[in-house]
Amino acid sequence: MNITVIGTGYVGLVSGICYAELGNRVICVDKDRAKIDTLLGGGIPIYEPGLQELSVKNREAGRLSYTIDLQEAVRQSELVILAVGTPSLPSGEANLSYIEQAAAEIADVMNGHKIIAVKSTVPVGTNERVRDIIRSRTSESFDSISLPEFLREGSALQDTMHPDRIIIGADNHEAAETIAELHRPLTDRIVVTDIRSAEMIKYASNAFLATKISFVNEIANICEKVGADVTLVAEGMGYDKRIGHAFLKAGIGYGGSCFPKDTRALIQIAGNVDYEFKLLRAVVEVNQDQRFSVIRKLETIFDGRLEGKTIAVWGLAFKPNTDDVRESPALEIIRHLTRSGAHVKAYDPIAISNFQSMYGEDSGVEWCGGAMEAAAGADALCLLTEWDEFVQADLQELQSILRKPILIDGRNVFKEEDLAETTFIYYSIGRPRLNQGVKEEISALHY
Ligand code: UDX
Repeated sequence: MNITVIGTGYVGLVSGICYAELGNRVICVDKDRAKIDTLLGGGIPIYEPGLQELSVKNREAGRLSYTIDLQEAVRQSELVILAVGTPSLPSGEANLSYIEQAAAEIADVMNGHKIIAVKSTVPVGTNERVRDIIRSRTSESFDSISLPEFLREGSALQDTMHPDRIIIGADNHEAAETIAELHRPLTDRIVVTDIRSAEMIKYASNAFLATKISFVNEIANICEKVGADVTLVAEGMGYDKRIGHAFLKAGIGYGGSCFPKDTRALIQIAGNVDYEFKLLRAVVEVNQDQRFSVIRKLETIFDGRLEGKTIAVWGLAFKPNTDDVRESPALEIIRHLTRSGAHVKAYDPIAISNFQSMYGEDSGVEWCGGAMEAAAGADALCLLTEWDEFVQADLQELQSILRKPILIDGRNVFKEEDLAETTFIYYSIGRPRLNQGVKEEISALHY
């Protein structure tokens, strides 16, 4: 099939490359010339394991091309996929201007029947809006499809090539069947719905996963008070098939480009039809508060006095295996630390430069080139992203180079046996049994 994908962000680029890998002829279009130049030069503008190799492979096979020429691409394609960004407006609502603009541009160059599929996450009713825009600008026939995307950053290729399901929202059986056929090599679990339901499935899925995370984080907070261990609680709960183990890892809350944006958007979508989504509001509120659990633990240890302390931070990306720092809990945690007068030594294996651009100037932050360099001489270390490099760190070495052996593990990466030979003052999330460091020891630190 000849496919144009508009937008070379995470969703557009990964799906475009994967459709090519399936044997289709794919043209990826973006307005951003620098991005297209990077792609044409064999590079990849985002960090995603395996993506660059697959891009090069499919370009060499002649199935994949990159261009800024939307007209040329659309004219050669039967299927046009919109995968442009839908960032949050200040109200929380999704900004649809990129989608609307792309729809108008497609309409203006159409040269025959097309299937127009929307992969961007868009509020219920947006596909109809796209259809109206196209209809108002061309007499060519076309079919609208909602084709929500469920890939995760860091495992985007695996998620795309082995999806749990494909959702196709359509009002035309033939068009739905064409799109189903395209995805059949990937899975048999193809659910065809009406367009509005497909749009809702995407928001409802992300909101549900965010709810699981906030739920387990609240359980963790209670575990800390009642002396239970949240990792064991989650394990025990997860064996119930109705619950499952996924997305029950307690930590410092969710970040990234999707959950924060999509939960806010769904609250707004509900609000627009006079429905107050109380549960989801609470999910967002819990998530916002959870990132401060790290700060609260530091404050307990230092008796509320962070001023003048040097705090090392391991991990700036919102999760491992990505350089994405959008809505990363590290942003607010580090901001809070420097505002409290602490000096921060920050390190991430690949996300430092993205983090610097988003965070901005701050004389209170020192950017470090290595994990041990960041930890050296610090009064405490906070682990905020569970990169393998940190999980496998030599804890004896770490203990010896910290000024005070204080470790706040915001992602519960260390196990009891890892800590057995150490004398860390150790706090994690919802595992009070593992807390190390007696009160007197902590008191002795108040210098
Ligand atoms: C998410 C959805 O999983 C994906 O289906 C959708 O298409 C886009 O949004 P992504 O943002 O890439 O994907 O990351 P994900 O792996 O889902 O993690 C999101 C956030 O939740 C991260 O900050 C992660 O650290 C956090 N998380 C995840 C937890 O705190 N606990 C968990 O158990 C799982």
